[in-house]
Amino acid sequence: MSAQKKRTAILISGRGSNMEAILAAARAADYPADIALVLANKPDAKGLETAQNAGIKTAVVDHRPFKGDREAFDAEIHRILADNDIELVVLAGFMRILTAGFVAKWEDRMLNIHPSLLPAFKGLHTQQRALDTGCRVAGCTVHFVRADMDSGPIITQGVVPVLDGDDEDSLTARILKVEHQIYPRAVALVAAGKVSVEGMRVQINDDALDGSIALIN
Ligand code: GRF
Repeated sequence: MSAQKKRTAILISGRGSNMEAILAAARAADYPADIALVLANKPDAKGLETAQNAGIKTAVVDHRPFKGDREAFDAEIHRILADNDIELVVLAGFMRILTAGFVAKWEDRMLNIHPSLLPAFKGLHTQQRALDTGCRVAGCTVHFVRADMDSGPIITQGVVPVLDGDDEDSLTARILKVEHQIYPRAVALVAAGKVSVEGMRVQINDDALDGSIALIN
Protein backbone atom coordinates (compact mmCIF):
# COMPACT_ATOMS: atom_id res chain seq x y z
CA MET A 1 0.00 0.00 0.00
CA SER A 2 2.58 2.53 1.09
CA ALA A 3 4.35 2.51 -2.28
CA GLN A 4 1.14 3.70 -3.90
CA LYS A 5 0.35 6.45 -1.46
CA LYS A 6 -0.08 9.81 -3.18
CA ARG A 7 2.66 12.25 -2.27
CA THR A 8 0.72 15.18 -0.91
CA ALA A 9 1.59 18.75 0.05
CA ILE A 10 -0.53 20.85 2.39
CA LEU A 11 -0.33 24.63 1.87
CA ILE A 12 -1.13 26.83 4.87
CA SER A 13 -0.95 30.45 5.99
CA GLY A 14 -1.77 30.25 9.68
CA ARG A 15 -3.14 28.08 12.43
CA GLY A 16 -3.29 24.85 10.44
CA SER A 17 -6.07 23.05 12.29
CA ASN A 18 -7.32 21.43 9.08
CA MET A 19 -3.75 20.40 8.31
CA GLU A 20 -3.57 18.85 11.77
CA ALA A 21 -6.77 16.88 11.15
CA ILE A 22 -5.35 15.53 7.89
CA LEU A 23 -2.00 14.68 9.52
CA ALA A 24 -3.88 12.76 12.21
CA ALA A 25 -5.89 10.80 9.64
CA ALA A 26 -2.77 10.15 7.56
CA ARG A 27 -1.16 8.27 10.47
CA ALA A 28 -3.43 5.33 9.68
CA ALA A 29 -1.50 2.70 7.74
CA ASP A 30 -4.19 2.47 5.07
CA TYR A 31 -4.61 6.22 4.50
CA PRO A 32 -3.94 6.70 0.78
CA ALA A 33 -2.09 10.04 1.04
CA ASP A 34 1.44 10.50 2.35
CA ILE A 35 1.82 14.06 3.66
CA ALA A 36 5.29 14.65 2.29
CA LEU A 37 5.42 18.43 2.71
CA VAL A 38 3.76 21.35 4.49
CA LEU A 39 4.43 24.68 2.80
CA ALA A 40 3.55 28.11 4.19
CA ASN A 41 3.70 31.59 2.72
CA LYS A 42 4.24 33.04 6.19
CA PRO A 43 7.39 32.17 8.14
CA ASP A 44 5.49 32.56 11.42
CA ALA A 45 2.50 30.37 10.47
CA LYS A 46 1.64 28.46 13.63
CA GLY A 47 0.92 25.32 11.63
CA LEU A 48 4.59 25.06 10.57
CA GLU A 49 5.60 24.27 14.13
CA THR A 50 2.81 21.70 14.44
CA ALA A 51 3.99 20.01 11.24
CA GLN A 52 7.63 20.02 12.35
CA ASN A 53 6.68 18.52 15.71
CA ALA A 54 4.88 15.78 13.80
CA GLY A 55 8.09 15.09 11.85
CA ILE A 56 6.77 16.45 8.56
CA LYS A 57 9.08 18.26 6.14
CA THR A 58 8.24 21.98 5.88
CA ALA A 59 9.05 24.80 3.47
CA VAL A 60 8.38 28.53 3.46
CA VAL A 61 7.85 30.70 0.39
CA ASP A 62 7.39 34.15 1.86
CA HIS A 63 5.23 36.12 -0.56
CA ARG A 64 6.55 39.52 0.53
CA PRO A 65 9.89 39.59 -1.35
CA PHE A 66 7.96 38.85 -4.57
CA LYS A 67 6.34 42.30 -4.22
CA GLY A 68 3.11 41.32 -5.92
CA ASP A 69 4.70 39.28 -8.72
CA ARG A 70 2.26 36.41 -8.39
CA GLU A 71 3.65 34.51 -11.39
CA ALA A 72 7.11 34.37 -9.79
CA PHE A 73 5.69 33.44 -6.38
CA ASP A 74 3.65 30.60 -7.88
CA ALA A 75 6.61 29.44 -9.98
CA GLU A 76 8.69 29.11 -6.81
CA ILE A 77 5.95 27.10 -5.11
CA HIS A 78 5.62 24.89 -8.18
CA ARG A 79 9.39 24.32 -8.21
CA ILE A 80 9.34 23.13 -4.59
CA LEU A 81 6.33 20.88 -5.21
CA ALA A 82 8.06 19.36 -8.24
CA ASP A 83 11.36 18.93 -6.34
CA ASN A 84 9.42 16.96 -3.73
CA ASP A 85 7.60 14.81 -6.31
CA ILE A 86 4.25 16.08 -5.08
CA GLU A 87 1.19 14.59 -6.79
CA LEU A 88 -1.65 16.16 -4.80
CA VAL A 89 -1.97 19.67 -3.33
CA VAL A 90 -4.24 20.45 -0.39
CA LEU A 91 -4.97 24.10 0.43
CA ALA A 92 -5.82 24.45 4.10
CA GLY A 93 -6.28 28.08 5.07
CA PHE A 94 -3.81 29.20 2.38
CA MET A 95 -4.59 32.88 2.01
CA ARG A 96 -3.00 33.70 -1.36
CA ILE A 97 -4.85 33.73 -4.65
CA LEU A 98 -3.07 31.45 -7.11
CA THR A 99 -2.54 32.36 -10.77
CA ALA A 100 -4.57 30.70 -13.52
CA GLY A 101 -1.39 29.10 -14.89
CA PHE A 102 -0.54 27.46 -11.59
CA VAL A 103 -4.12 26.30 -11.07
CA ALA A 104 -4.18 24.77 -14.58
CA LYS A 105 -1.02 22.76 -13.80
CA TRP A 106 -2.80 21.22 -10.81
CA GLU A 107 -6.25 20.80 -12.32
CA ASP A 108 -8.19 18.11 -10.42
CA ARG A 109 -5.11 17.55 -8.27
CA MET A 110 -5.58 20.54 -5.95
CA LEU A 111 -8.26 20.79 -3.25
CA ASN A 112 -9.47 23.62 -1.05
CA ILE A 113 -11.77 23.90 1.94
CA HIS A 114 -14.05 26.88 2.31
CA PRO A 115 -16.18 27.68 5.37
CA SER A 116 -19.53 28.10 3.62
CA LEU A 117 -21.99 26.06 1.62
CA LEU A 118 -20.73 27.10 -1.82
CA PRO A 119 -21.78 28.67 -4.09
CA ALA A 120 -23.10 30.88 -1.27
CA PHE A 121 -20.65 33.22 0.40
CA LYS A 122 -17.46 33.03 -1.61
CA GLY A 123 -14.60 35.07 -0.17
CA LEU A 124 -14.13 36.19 3.42
CA HIS A 125 -16.27 36.57 6.58
CA THR A 126 -18.53 33.75 5.41
CA GLN A 127 -19.89 32.85 8.84
CA GLN A 128 -20.89 36.43 9.69
CA ARG A 129 -22.52 36.79 6.28
CA ALA A 130 -24.50 33.58 6.87
CA LEU A 131 -25.73 35.09 10.16
CA ASP A 132 -26.46 38.49 8.62
CA THR A 133 -28.62 36.98 5.90
CA GLY A 134 -30.59 34.84 8.33
CA CYS A 135 -29.46 31.41 7.09
CA ARG A 136 -30.84 28.50 9.11
CA VAL A 137 -28.05 26.18 7.98
CA ALA A 138 -24.40 26.87 7.26
CA GLY A 139 -21.37 24.69 6.65
CA CYS A 140 -18.25 24.03 4.68
CA THR A 141 -17.25 22.81 1.24
CA VAL A 142 -14.29 20.84 -0.11
CA HIS A 143 -13.80 21.52 -3.80
CA PHE A 144 -11.28 21.21 -6.60
CA VAL A 145 -9.53 24.50 -7.23
CA ARG A 146 -10.25 26.49 -10.39
CA ALA A 147 -8.91 29.88 -11.44
CA ASP A 148 -12.01 31.68 -10.16
CA MET A 149 -11.87 31.81 -6.38
CA ASP A 150 -14.08 29.36 -4.43
CA SER A 151 -15.70 28.11 -7.62
CA GLY A 152 -14.45 24.62 -8.49
CA PRO A 153 -16.31 21.29 -8.63
CA ILE A 154 -17.61 20.31 -5.20
CA ILE A 155 -16.33 17.07 -3.66
CA THR A 156 -18.24 17.22 -0.39
CA GLN A 157 -20.06 19.55 1.95
CA GLY A 158 -20.78 19.52 5.67
CA VAL A 159 -23.93 21.13 7.00
CA VAL A 160 -24.57 22.52 10.49
CA PRO A 161 -27.58 24.32 11.97
CA VAL A 162 -27.50 28.03 12.70
CA LEU A 163 -28.88 28.41 16.23
CA ASP A 164 -30.80 31.41 17.51
CA GLY A 165 -28.13 32.43 20.00
CA ASP A 166 -25.22 32.10 17.56
CA ASP A 167 -22.60 34.74 17.02
CA GLU A 168 -19.70 34.60 14.57
CA ASP A 169 -17.46 32.73 17.01
CA SER A 170 -19.93 30.00 17.91
CA LEU A 171 -20.95 29.39 14.31
CA THR A 172 -17.31 29.40 13.16
CA ALA A 173 -16.42 26.80 15.82
CA ARG A 174 -19.36 24.57 14.85
CA ILE A 175 -18.37 24.68 11.18
CA LEU A 176 -14.66 24.14 11.91
CA LYS A 177 -15.42 20.92 13.75
CA VAL A 178 -17.12 19.61 10.62
CA GLU A 179 -14.26 20.87 8.41
CA HIS A 180 -11.96 18.59 10.40
CA GLN A 181 -14.24 15.65 9.64
CA ILE A 182 -14.87 16.15 5.93
CA TYR A 183 -11.46 17.33 4.74
CA PRO A 184 -9.41 14.23 5.69
CA ARG A 185 -12.14 12.09 4.13
CA ALA A 186 -12.22 14.07 0.89
CA VAL A 187 -8.43 14.02 0.61
CA ALA A 188 -8.48 10.23 1.10
CA LEU A 189 -11.08 9.71 -1.62
CA VAL A 190 -9.14 11.82 -4.12
CA ALA A 191 -5.80 10.24 -3.19
CA ALA A 192 -7.32 6.77 -3.61
CA GLY A 193 -8.43 7.69 -7.14
CA LYS A 194 -12.10 7.32 -6.23
CA VAL A 195 -13.15 10.75 -7.46
CA SER A 196 -13.82 11.75 -11.04
CA VAL A 197 -14.87 15.12 -12.44
CA GLU A 198 -17.26 15.87 -15.26
CA GLY A 199 -17.74 19.57 -15.79
CA MET A 200 -18.88 20.89 -12.44
CA ARG A 201 -20.08 17.52 -11.16
CA VAL A 202 -17.95 15.21 -9.09
CA GLN A 203 -18.53 11.49 -9.04
CA ILE A 204 -17.50 9.47 -5.98
CA ASN A 205 -16.71 5.88 -6.93
CA ASP A 206 -16.67 4.03 -3.65
CA ASP A 207 -18.74 0.93 -2.97
CA ALA A 208 -18.96 1.81 0.71
CA LEU A 209 -20.69 5.09 -0.08
CA ASP A 210 -24.06 5.77 -1.60
CA GLY A 211 -22.72 8.32 -4.08
CA SER A 212 -22.62 11.26 -1.72
CA ILE A 213 -20.30 12.02 1.15
CA ALA A 214 -22.12 15.09 2.38
CA LEU A 215 -22.20 15.27 6.16
CA ILE A 216 -25.28 16.64 7.89
CA ASN A 217 -24.86 17.22 11.60
C1 GRF B 1 -10.73 27.37 7.73
O1 GRF B 1 -11.92 27.88 8.23
C2 GRF B 1 -10.85 27.07 6.27
O2 GRF B 1 -12.13 26.69 5.88
C3 GRF B 1 -10.52 28.41 5.64
O3 GRF B 1 -9.52 28.95 6.45
C4 GRF B 1 -9.61 28.41 7.76
C5 GRF B 1 -8.28 27.80 8.06
O4 GRF B 1 -8.20 27.32 9.38
N1 GRF B 1 -10.14 28.23 4.27
P1 GRF B 1 -6.99 26.38 9.78
O5 GRF B 1 -5.71 27.12 9.44
O6 GRF B 1 -7.13 25.09 9.03
O7 GRF B 1 -7.13 26.19 11.26
